[in-house]
Amino acid sequence: MKEKMLQHLNNLFSKVFLIIFIIGNSNLAHSEERNTEFLKNNWSFDGVFGTFDRASLQRGYQVYQEVCAGCHSVQHLSYRNLSEKGGPEFLPEEAKAIAAQFEVIDGPNEDGEMFTRPGRLSDKFVMPFPNVKAAAAANGGAYPPDMSVLAKARKGGADYIYSLLMGYEEAPAGYELDDGVYYNKYMPGNKIKMAEPISDGIVEYSDGTETTKAQISRDVTTFLVWAGDPHLEARHKMGFKVFFYLIILLTLVYFSKQKVWSRFGSKREEEEEAFDKAEKAVTKYEGEDPKTFK
Ligand code: HEC
Repeated sequence: MKEKMLQHLNNLFSKVFLIIFIIGNSNLAHSEERNTEFLKNNWSFDGVFGTFDRASLQRGYQVYQEVCAGCHSVQHLSYRNLSEKGGPEFLPEEAKAIAAQFEVIDGPNEDGEMFTRPGRLSDKFVMPFPNVKAAAAANGGAYPPDMSVLAKARKGGADYIYSLLMGYEEAPAGYELDDGVYYNKYMPGNKIKMAEPISDGIVEYSDGTETTKAQISRDVTTFLVWAGDPHLEARHKMGFKVFFYLIILLTLVYFSKQKVWSRFGSKREEEEEAFDKAEKAVTKYEGEDPKTFK
């Protein structure tokens, strides 16, 4: 009896552990699954304990600013995010200097007029176009999507963005492409209204990192994943703590339960044996007239 209970308990615990393990690794499993069709990359931020590569984030910001920001906004980011923990972690002075490079429309002033001033840390990233229509009009009718959540919104996430940036090719023979439309292996439908934005050496890195198309694409993809999830690292840290806590708690519960059962498990067995005996005795005389009992 007691053994059976313990076996049950053991079963239960191994199941709970298994479930926690599966949940904990769901990110990994997910990334393996989604990698099948896109180009593979070992992202440092993948998995439950992933963190960002600080230097890559800083380079990625540079690529975004120098190459993509002319068309794509990242409207949820503020300049102060650039110096926050878990991000590119520029020094506060650096982030301030970055913000001050931009002209921000503010106002109205006392005369009721809008005016421009240099950006501050609290300002949102300046948008390249005043609105969606203007953005589309400047890009042959296609709207360059805001990049705040692009990495999250697209199936495949980082791998998709990286593959898209690396996926420009000559269109197959006989493939019709209108003016301003390009062939991309990874764009759904293979037609994209964005000219190939990245090529070897399109930016100059001050940290000496090579400026191949692949490296630049990797850096800007890393930046875009962070832009879509600036608190990823904090969340991963919290997840780790919860995971750890649960394991300790489960171990404690397991041992205390075992202890409790060992205390009165055997006594129960005796009682049950006695009960079984009595039951047998009763069934033996079942259906007989009680008067014939000896
Ligand atoms: C000249 C303007 C321009 C520049 C510069 C530019 N893009 Fe785009 N981008 C566009 C337009 C327009 C689209 C929409 C294309 C479409 O829907 O066919 C787009 C779409 C995208 C998409 C999304 C495709 C999808 O799934 O909808 C990604 C990702 C992207 N750009 C990344 C980048 C990155 C990264 C950079 C900088 C390295 C960049 N773009 C630079 C104009 C631009």
